[in-house]
Amino acid sequence: MNYKIHELFPLVVYQGDVKCHQEFKEKNLESLKEYWFNGYINESPEYSGRIFAHHNLEYKVFFEELRTHIDNYFDTLLIDYSKLDYHVIKSWVGCHFDDETPSVKPHTHNESNLSFVYYTNTDETSDKFCVAQQQNKNESVGDLFQTAIQRNLITGYNKYNCNVYTITPKEGSMVIFPSNIGHFTQKFTKRECERVVIAGDISNFEERICRLPSGFHSSIAMVRSLK
Ligand SMILES: [Fe+2]
Repeated sequence: MNYKIHELFPLVVYQGDVKCHQEFKEKNLESLKEYWFNGYINESPEYSGRIFAHHNLEYKVFFEELRTHIDNYFDTLLIDYSKLDYHVIKSWVGCHFDDETPSVKPHTHNESNLSFVYYTNTDETSDKFCVAQQQNKNESVGDLFQTAIQRNLITGYNKYNCNVYTITPKEGSMVIFPSNIGHFTQKFTKRECERVVIAGDISNFEERICRLPSGFHSSIAMVRSLK
């Protein structure tokens, strides 16, 4: 029988290679650990106060390159990014130093438009980056995709029936995704190396908004423009 599947409304998560990676890692890996937000003590990077890695001029080469990756992301969406002004509003460092460090629980980032993670030091045993959706529109019947019941209906996973997708954290690459998408990390094997990532949030202001002479944009006066 002849039939066609229309793939509608796919979510875009960008993954690109960081050009400055080798030099950046050699120069900055140790100092980056000082920006670790320490999830053991602090519930989130905000509580740690270590959310301004982008203010460190030693890291400028990465944050300047970040702009190009955001351009690529918007290219996929056919957005004229020349009309946008990107601002990193927070950036911090995430680490696991051993096999015991807990993975990052499911969460979203509020108060920003896009979020990113740059895998500065990882290997093939590092926790996977997982992206989740709360509701799968293809689950037209309750529990259709449920796997924790005795009489499972689902026979395998594909991109239509999954609510969670994993992305391998390849060292020297970075991912960009909408901040309001649920995400977390998942340990899947014994970790063999320290994991060090730079993560952060970006707001995208239309340039014409930034030119408004009102108090509206005064809150962004303290953030660092990528331009
Ligand atoms: Fe996150």
